[in-house]
Amino acid sequence: MTAKQSALKDLPPDLEPARLPQHVAVIMDGNGRWAQRRGMPRIMGHRRGVDTLKDLLRCCKDWGIKALTAYAFSTENWGRPLEEVDFLMTLFERVLRKELREMQAEEVQIRFAGNLAALPASLRLEIDRSMEATRHNQGIVFTVATNYGGRQEIINACRAIAHQVQQGTLQPDAVDEALFEQHLYTAGNSDPDLLIRTSGEMRVSNFLLWQLAYSEFYVTDTLWPDFDRTEFHQALCAFQQRDRRFGTLS
Ligand code: FPP
Repeated sequence: MTAKQSALKDLPPDLEPARLPQHVAVIMDGNGRWAQRRGMPRIMGHRRGVDTLKDLLRCCKDWGIKALTAYAFSTENWGRPLEEVDFLMTLFERVLRKELREMQAEEVQIRFAGNLAALPASLRLEIDRSMEATRHNQGIVFTVATNYGGRQEIINACRAIAHQVQQGTLQPDAVDEALFEQHLYTAGNSDPDLLIRTSGEMRVSNFLLWQLAYSEFYVTDTLWPDFDRTEFHQALCAFQQRDRRFGTLS
């Protein structure tokens, strides 16, 4: 075992630390089905999903993965029944309030991606509080995509850039990938190396449309509340088998 590996808590010996993804993104799908299969209301699946997410965040930190991004609420999710939307908003708020102390202890830097202005004011308050309190933490960057839509994000960036061009403060030729990225919700984050989607669906569902350009995809039939360290280990093994060519030849 290498010195670096022994410093990573409980990293399975078949994973090569140098070839782990730096940034993992997750589409946490299947909460509702998980609950319904047990005869429980869908919201119980979301509640259980929070525990899964907490475990995954801790696991990423233990195994030396630098960033985790989770798709918590899409711009399309407003179309769900009002009680479910209300439950989710209250759940996010409660989790942020309850977990802040532990995020500090674990050196988690929390960020949010999405149209936050449209969220309930009490949730925005917790979002601001948690971002401000954790902004210097260096353990792991944890981004929560909340009221997030990839197309909307790209349109917002285009608008901001068009505005600068119209004002004469930016030349059209100066618009490049690096500049464009600065106008995304995720400005300052690296792109995900690995995207995991649970519950077997093979879609990106308007998630990180720009940022996933060269991410490796891993889909599992497991429903989100059942996605544990063993499952994550399998996803990482699959990732380490991939030949990432970024459009070139190996
Ligand atoms: C998708 O399952 C899940 C969601 C829309 C919500 C996910 C949110 C959490 C796990 C809470 C995270 C909390 C914080 C503070 C980050 P689904 O309802 O679409 O399941 P289904 O496909 O079985 O219907």
